[in-house]
Parts: sequence; structure tokens; C-alpha cells
Amino acid sequence: MTINIAAVDYDGLIPNNVALGDDPRVKRALEKWHPGYIDWWNDMGPEGFQASLVYLRTAISVDPKGWAKFDYVRMPEYRWGVLLAPQHTDRKIPFGRHKGEPAWQEVPGEYRAMLRRLIVIQGDTEPASVEQQRHLGKTAPSLYDMRNLFQVNVEEGRHLWAMVYLLQKYFGTDGREEAEALLQRRSGHPDTPRMLGAFNEKTPDWLSFFMFTYFTDRDGKMQLEALAQSGFDPLSRTCRFMLTEEAHHMFVGETGVTRVIQRTCEAMKAAGITDPYDIAAVRKLGVIDLPTIQKKANLHFSLTLDLFGNEISTNAANAFHAGLKGRYREDRLKDDHQLEHDTYPVLRLIDGKIQSEDVSALSALNMRLRDDYVVDANVGVGRWNKVIEEFGIPFQIKLPHVAFHRHIGEFSGIHADVNGTLLSEAEWTQKRNDYLPSDGDKDFIESLMQPQFETGQFASWIAPPKVGIDNKPGDFEYVKIADA
Ligand SMILES: [Fe+2]
Ligand SMILES: [Fe+2]
Repeated sequence: MTINIAAVDYDGLIPNNVALGDDPRVKRALEKWHPGYIDWWNDMGPEGFQASLVYLRTAISVDPKGWAKFDYVRMPEYRWGVLLAPQHTDRKIPFGRHKGEPAWQEVPGEYRAMLRRLIVIQGDTEPASVEQQRHLGKTAPSLYDMRNLFQVNVEEGRHLWAMVYLLQKYFGTDGREEAEALLQRRSGHPDTPRMLGAFNEKTPDWLSFFMFTYFTDRDGKMQLEALAQSGFDPLSRTCRFMLTEEAHHMFVGETGVTRVIQRTCEAMKAAGITDPYDIAAVRKLGVIDLPTIQKKANLHFSLTLDLFGNEISTNAANAFHAGLKGRYREDRLKDDHQLEHDTYPVLRLIDGKIQSEDVSALSALNMRLRDDYVVDANVGVGRWNKVIEEFGIPFQIKLPHVAFHRHIGEFSGIHADVNGTLLSEAEWTQKRNDYLPSDGDKDFIESLMQPQFETGQFASWIAPPKVGIDNKPGDFEYVKIADA
């Protein structure tokens, strides 16, 4: 049973379905925060395209059948709203020590700090990726891709709004301070960086962007899925709606990489090149060789694994026990949802070897979410390989071992190759460029990043999409670029 479906107030400054009009305190707080947000967007959002008209979807409802509308918008005028999925009446806390109690509509006092921390960490990732991607418009391989980039960007902005609403509504003065701080930190800044490592890395080129949206936005999906299970109902509802937007981000990543692979394979076939490792010959065709695509996948996959935190974590155990953050699809799992007496196998470094060890299921929750992530991430990789296979090219993209190139957790102190074989410092230094993009690889990719802004045209290194956004034809003008 749901109440409150699709009652979106679209007239005020902040579109919302949380009855902001009846909540003057929170309305005022958000309206005060708004100018700082716009300043941030103008400073740190897509560089050079703020005056252009972009064919964007905007969330106007939370009805799954018709939640978005498409139209030309200048990004600074995008309607960033606060939208929560419909409330289920008598929803119960689905896991942890409070399992079966009514879901909280207010913040439980004893968990206030823990809950605020979870919301701030999630919130911090949203503006971070906008900052990381702000230079990419200038080298877009097509107007279609440029539009997709900007769509992802404005929606990450809306996700920031979603988290800031929770902070302003439920956390008083400290919530307000956290909301301000979310606008102050900057991706990659030496003094005020974003909170998590992968969100301080550069996204220097479009292959990185596609890998980022495939691998790193998928971490976002897993975190949102886990928070969508939360006993704190407003957080659950917020995350459920964010997931509908998130799906498009991963679509952009998966199809982006598919199209790069497709183009490479087509060019190889046309030129009669059968050896995927004949890198020099492939690069002469103006496409990205498959081994370099593999290296990019290795990089972004390993950076993203770090986002799941330590394999063994008391914080994760506490958040689950308290009923704040569940497992992936907790509501579909068949067990006692309390895990007090269960164990879970974790890959650890024991006596200098990578070995599986059964540890308490509660402390292994990060690991479990990461395992679910790897399964999910492998699905699209399988589809990439299908494309390569159709061209009869003997090559497969493979996700590297979880011990490869790690900076957090069990394997942060060692070096391993993509198969999980331990390497000495010297071996790692010698082989690193076999696994991760070298300076030469980066220079080559950069050389391909020439803008293609002709309607319906695509850069040499990427195939057109199968279908347009909102069923638009191939020559549709997704972005009307304004003269700067
Ligand atoms: Fe997001
Ligand atoms: Fe996203």
C-alpha cells in the first residue's frame, strides 16, 4: 500500500513532493542554501556549456510510469527537485536489532551521528563526480554523448539536493553545517578534497568517463540499494527514487564502452587486422586498441573496489545492527536478517598468502556488498565480450582480481597482478604498465579526444548508439551550443 503518489509541487523555487510549502523552516533553509548551490554549479559544473540548450530529462513525478519529461534546458536553470519515492504505510524495519519495528519517520536519537555520517558520505560523492567531469564537454565525441554527460551531471546535482534535504530537515544546526560543507569540498583539492579516494581522481578523457559511469556509478547503485533498505524511512524513500535516475548513468557507461569496442572491432575487421595485440596497427586506424580498453577497466574497477571500504568493518556491522544500512536487496534475502550467529567468507592476506577466511557475517558486510557488486559488474562485461566475439577477435575483457591495485583494506600493503599473484615491489614496477594505462597510452587516448559537434556525427573512435535518447532520430540536435 502506498500513499502520497506523484503529488509533486512544481511551482515554487524547489520542485518537491515532500510538502515543502507546509514546512516553512525547511523551505527557508533550502532556499538559503540554493544560491550557494547555483554558485557551485556555475563554478564547478560543465565548463563552457552553461548557456547552451541541452535536451534533458527532468524528474517531475515519482510515478514509475511517467516520472520524467524531456525538453531543452540551460543547465543552470534545471529544476533540481526534492523527490522521494512513495511512502509505504506500515513499513517495518527490515533487518538488524530493531527488525519488525515500525520504520522510523524521525531520526532515532541514539543513531543520529551514525546516520548523519552515512548521508554525508553519500552526499559528498554526488557533486564530486560533477567536478571530475567538468572539462569533458569540450572533447565530446558527439552531441548525443555530450547530452548524456550533462544529463548525468544535472542528476548528480539533484542527488546532492536529495541528501541535503535530509540533512536540513532532520539534523538541525549540524545538518545545515554539513550541507554547507558539501559545497565547500572540491574533488582533488589538496586541502579540502572530497571524502572518498575515487572521487578525487581525474576523469581526463571519455573512455574514463564511460568506465567511471559503468564501474563507479555502479558502486553508487550498490550503496543506494543498501540505504534504500534503511529503517530510517525518509532515507529509504530518497534512495529508492535516486535509483531510477542512477540506472541511466550505468546505461551511459555500459553502452559507451560497448560503442568504443564496436568501433575498434569494425575498424580492425575493415583493415584485416586479426591480432588484437598489434597495437600500433590498430591505433593507426584512429580507434582504441582492446588491450588499452582492458587497462582502463582495470584502473576504474580497482579504484571503485576501494569505495567499499575495509573488508572487515565495525562501522558496517554497527550500521546494519542499528537498522540503518542493509544488504543488497535485503528484502529478497531469506535468512534471519540479523546475522548475529552467521559467518561470511572473506579473502584476506594471511601469512603472506591470499586466503579465504570465514568471519562474522556482521563485520563482513562491506565485503558482501562488494561481492554483489562484482557479480553485477560482470554482467555488462559479458555483453562487451559478446561484441568482440561477433567479430571473431580472440580477446576477452576480464575484471582483475580483487587484490589488484588496491589502496584500502587487506591488499593495500601488497602488490598483485590481475590474476591475484603476489608481486615484489620490483616486479610491480616492471609490470605496472602492462596492467594500467601508461603515459603513452594516456597520450594516445588524449590525441583522439577531438570534439565532434556536428549533428548526427561521431568521433572516429566510437560507434553511434543503436537508438536515440527519447526515441529521437540520429540527426537530432541534442545540444544547441551557445556561443560563449
Ligand atoms: Fe548519484
Ligand atoms: Fe550516478
